[in-house]
Amino acid sequence: MKNNTIVIMGSSNPMGNTYDVCSEIVKKTGYKFQDLMELVIMPYDYEYENSDDDFIGFMKHVVKNYDHIILASPVYWYSVSGTMKNFIDRFTDLLKVEKETGRELRGKSLQLISVSNSDDCPEEFAKPIERTANYLAMEWKGHTHFPVDEKGIMEERLGTI
Ligand SMILES: Cc1cc2nc3c(=O)[nH]c(=O)nc-3n(C[C@H](O)[C@H](O)[C@H](O)COP(=O)(O)O)c2cc1C
Repeated sequence: MKNNTIVIMGSSNPMGNTYDVCSEIVKKTGYKFQDLMELVIMPYDYEYENSDDDFIGFMKHVVKNYDHIILASPVYWYSVSGTMKNFIDRFTDLLKVEKETGRELRGKSLQLISVSNSDDCPEEFAKPIERTANYLAMEWKGHTHFPVDEKGIMEERLGTI
């Protein structure tokens, strides 16, 4: 899936642990990479007055160019980061005002990467993302947790990506 995969990162630290994991993955696979913090993505708005921010344009680019989407998030308070949750909330735009782009997600696949300092990732961490994939008729490709400690990224887990 080399050329049709994008890793989308939502971390508050643009050069932090999640970035380090993403960098290893990109180096190994050649996947494309996008840091959500480099885009202007406003919170979900019932009036869709934010529809001229970067979200719709980015998602049009994603559905046109990629079949496999990897979301990468640190574990913040047992859950995905606020940046990642904000991005996922905006998928609602794809069901309400940008339906054609939303329909194009069908049949694509979704995978989740989490990063923290320990191997103790909450078992419920991935469930909302898995259910989101199911709701959007995307194929769920599972969750891999990367504990980052002083010994660095666990090499064998890179094999699952
Ligand atoms: C706001 C915040 C909340 C966190 N909550 C958790 C948590 O619930 N469980 C955990 O294991 N680590 C938690 N951590 C630690 C981070 O998961 C860990 O430091 C991670 O590697 C940070 O990735 P980053 O450098 O991409 O931000 C938290 C860190 C922050 C900043």
